Amino acid sequence: MLKKVDFLIVGSGIAGLTFAINSAQYGQILILTKKNRADSNTNYAQGGIASVFSDADSFDCHINDTIKAGEGLSHQNAVKIMVENGPKLVSKLYDKGCRFTLDDQGNFALGKEGGHSQRRIVHAKDYTGYEIEHVLLEEVKRKNVIISENEIALDLIIIDGECLGLYFFDANKQKIDYILANATVLATGGTGQIYLHTTNPPIATGDGIAMAFRAGARVANMEFVQFHPTSVYNIQTDGRAFLISEALRGEGGILKTKNGKPFMDKYDPAGNLAPRDIVARACVSEMYATKSKYVLLDISHVNAGYLKNRFPTIYETCMKWGIDMTREPIPVVPAAHYTCGGILVNTWAESSINRLFALGECSCTGVHGANRLASNSLLEALVFSTRASERAKKIKSIRTKTRIPVKQTAQSGPDYRLQIKEIMDQYLGVIRTVKGLEIAHESISDFCSKYDDGIYLKNAEARNVADIAMLIVKSAIMRTESRGLHYIREYPKKKREFSKDTVISRKES
Ligand code: FAD
Ligand code: SIN
Repeated sequence: MLKKVDFLIVGSGIAGLTFAINSAQYGQILILTKKNRADSNTNYAQGGIASVFSDADSFDCHINDTIKAGEGLSHQNAVKIMVENGPKLVSKLYDKGCRFTLDDQGNFALGKEGGHSQRRIVHAKDYTGYEIEHVLLEEVKRKNVIISENEIALDLIIIDGECLGLYFFDANKQKIDYILANATVLATGGTGQIYLHTTNPPIATGDGIAMAFRAGARVANMEFVQFHPTSVYNIQTDGRAFLISEALRGEGGILKTKNGKPFMDKYDPAGNLAPRDIVARACVSEMYATKSKYVLLDISHVNAGYLKNRFPTIYETCMKWGIDMTREPIPVVPAAHYTCGGILVNTWAESSINRLFALGECSCTGVHGANRLASNSLLEALVFSTRASERAKKIKSIRTKTRIPVKQTAQSGPDYRLQIKEIMDQYLGVIRTVKGLEIAHESISDFCSKYDDGIYLKNAEARNVADIAMLIVKSAIMRTESRGLHYIREYPKKKREFSKDTVISRKES
């Protein structure tokens, strides 16, 4: 294994791979990834990637929809950068070989999702993420970027306030090691796996955010956990709940109670295509009112041939479980889906620690504010990972003679994942209460206190799960209002004094 590289990237989803492809010309790159190289949230993205392509649409319109969904917290400059760079970079993905679905005129067929006032979702049927992941992996291979699989990054090496690389556990060799880098780039994805019920695959344990926080970086807006309204009820596959894309509602899908009554028009003028926070809360309220563990998503009125062609993965997966969506409604429930907060970065993806960059879902660029607009996350990752390489290429070399502190290591830390997941599902879900947050805070503090500052060779993810849960519960307690994805029953309204990010760092907290 290399001891020093120019760019050390953790994660091989859209963010890490995009950065690698753009930086390969500027220096030596190593990507560490904790499982198989394609194992990422990116690989499972269904709906698509939002960008302005239609004549009826405009940058202003996409910017306004994003800011509206963000409920007053979106960073306007970051949103503008993301939206305006979209068409160029999405077209580039197509040129690289992503087989996005085209219309009869050979233009991108544009889907519609919640909170978007125009059709602007570029997609490859319902497997957009798979298409992007595999095209980027091919390109990385052509550029001779090294991807090291089954290596889990454990903690950052911080010396004199700078990040000089990281410690990792080499599962192949069963030992701890370190690598130095001029720039360390965290692209570790989301935190869905701190909940029992999530659409995220097992890799999503928030490692990058936890590592950055422990290293002293500023972390923002962790209370804004996005719950996707429609994951299949009561069926888990490979450790995750199966998602039914919002694009299904874009093509006419209707949410109904278990008794077959449509309900979304009661909650928002946009009905079934309201922003995700509103739809998820409506689903939970209706489940409660009808004493049911699920609601129904019905698209059986749409032509069966069309549905099978437009949503092949969803159709075939549901059929395996005996649900024929062309004939009957799908039982669905909300599931933890996306982390709007993360490592606070500027519009060049630089964190508050020198030489440390954060990209994609583990970062907080500020574009999503209090609620992410559907299909804006692949776009965010694409745009800011491309920009990051422009900044990283200017970074000066570190001194390789640096003495690396030997970290105290323990074979195995305690593992409270199951208990924490139960607490998170119960108290930090779609609807929160003051009492629930207090209970969660007490229990999670207790779990966190069982870890010391050393490195855990095994169960490193368990410690990260505890740290992330703590960040979410603390941020949620600090925000005594309801805004976007953060809803507290006792404080149902937005308050002007909370029109700002919730920022936590080891020092500040
Ligand atoms: P990821 O793609 O999650 O990649 C993270 C990488 O980091 C992985 O390779 C992982 O193994 C690695 N890693 C993590 N921790 C470590 C560690 N400690 N050491 C080494 N490696 C590590 N967004 C959209 O915009 N449109 C959609 O249609 C859409 N659909 C979605 C559907 C599903 C089911 C899910 C779960 C998400 C969806 N999203 C969608 C969200 C979007 O897919 C993600 O936000 C985005 O793909 C994140 O990309 P990323 O590169 O930041 O992280
Ligand atoms: C979906 O297809 O509904 C997921 C889209 C997203 O998370 O942006």
